[in-house]
Amino acid sequence: MSQLVTGIAELTTHTELGTLTDAALVVDGGRVAWLGPAAQAPAADERLDLGGRAVLPGWVDSHSHLVSAGDRSAEFVDRMAGRPYQAGGIMQTVAATRAASDEELLARARRLRAEALRGGTTTMEAKTGYGLDVVSETRVALISAEVADVVTYLGAHVVPEGADRRSYVDLVTGDMLAAVEAYASFVDVFCETGAFDVEESREILLAGRAAGLALKVHGNQLGESGGVALAVELGATSVDHCNHLSAADLDALASSDTVATLLPACDLSTRQPFPPARELVDAGATVAIASNCNPGSSYTTSMAFCVATAVLQQRLTLEEALWAATVGGARALGLDGTPDAVGRLAVGGRADLQVLDAPSARHLAYRPGVPLHHATCLGGVWHSARP
Ligand code: NIG
Repeated sequence: MSQLVTGIAELTTHTELGTLTDAALVVDGGRVAWLGPAAQAPAADERLDLGGRAVLPGWVDSHSHLVSAGDRSAEFVDRMAGRPYQAGGIMQTVAATRAASDEELLARARRLRAEALRGGTTTMEAKTGYGLDVVSETRVALISAEVADVVTYLGAHVVPEGADRRSYVDLVTGDMLAAVEAYASFVDVFCETGAFDVEESREILLAGRAAGLALKVHGNQLGESGGVALAVELGATSVDHCNHLSAADLDALASSDTVATLLPACDLSTRQPFPPARELVDAGATVAIASNCNPGSSYTTSMAFCVATAVLQQRLTLEEALWAATVGGARALGLDGTPDAVGRLAVGGRADLQVLDAPSARHLAYRPGVPLHHATCLGGVWHSARP
């Protein structure tokens, strides 16, 4: 059944068509069969009138730790009172995740995925990294593959308490990688003081690459860790966080294809300085925006909040932030320009879109904090924004 969607006050496409007003589109078989001015819309089997709302591509959330257990709100409260964020808090979530049953982990991950969908997210990545032994990482990878579109192997999140560093790196590059690689598209490493140094990170990334995985790095979150330089040197698909960038890091990102993924909700929750988003865009770097949903440093699925923050506090324009949270996320996942590309609305492409209770996407930043989501369409299937 084809469906003609009318009453679109503003349609953001992220294609050569740009942003249309008074538009319509046709959805058929989970794909966009037509889009353009409402006056030229073809007939279809059924009709859906959106009553003057804005439509834009669904969010592509390229960084999350969706499969986890436990609550770290006490640590959050301490941080808001001035205690610094430290990588070691990860072990609390590891303990809770190991103690949870498969059913509990799956139920929580599904709840978060459904929450994200109601908020307009149509593509979501999920990382392992709260298992940190072969059995637990495999379990987290399996559950991540059930709830997320793209899985990233992050056995190198931290060295677990009590483990010998060298033996743990051997495990991450050996038996653990062998157990998880079938579920994952990317290998990632937390290259940071308190986690892994540059040489350990390089070894872990190269082992992942040898197993056929593309590369991601958690880099320069808490200081100038060398993670950004390493990511660019190795041709990583993305380097995420980027809070502390030297001039050389900025130049390296600007002259590479490595996507700089910004995580505004995490920056607020950990009281880290924001990355130089304006400078990155002005220098020509490719920028993505993601939620970093996890119970420790960023417990939100709201891409709308991240976009509003990037505009209101990081000096991106609304158009730049929308692009970063859709096409930028797709690039960070290697999903732009592929047959199953996401982040754009184009004829023949996936019908993954979101509808706002507003006439323009600019209301996402103009009316911050207001629940503006009306519905999400995922592969042609409509989901109401109200639970
Ligand atoms: O992306 N930075 C490292 N990993 C997560 C934090 C996880 C945690 O604190 O539990 C992040 O922010």
